[in-house]
Amino acid sequence: MTTHPTLLKTALAGFETLWSPRIVAQVNDYDVRIAKVAGEHVWHAHDDTDEFFLVIEGELTIALREAGGEREVTLAQGAVFVVPRGVEHKPSSKAGASLLLFEPTGTLSVGNRHETVPAHVDATTGHPLA
Ligand code: NI
Repeated sequence: MTTHPTLLKTALAGFETLWSPRIVAQVNDYDVRIAKVAGEHVWHAHDDTDEFFLVIEGELTIALREAGGEREVTLAQGAVFVVPRGVEHKPSSKAGASLLLFEPTGTLSVGNRHETVPAHVDATTGHPLA
């Protein structure tokens, strides 16, 4: 998987399933994952890890439930953002987006606490690239 360069554009072209991350590389005990998204994910939290987002293409909104209340951040193409561990969040994208995520290997895409997972959201620790 990591013995040859991986072109993100090619990797993204290799799958269509939304909200279903693919593992493109591993760094120590972390995964570099890519995902295609559109519409809404599900409210969830990762109590044991921060979660890094990079928007490769499109625009991503992340709703956050913090101590001070609920807010949304909008990530333009090229933006990076970290959701701190324990913070409930719900990513969404009206027009669709491609993302890169960086998080410990084994991290579940819907966190360790979540609302009912809708059918269009894949609860996964990441799939290998085809
Ligand atoms: Ni998350």
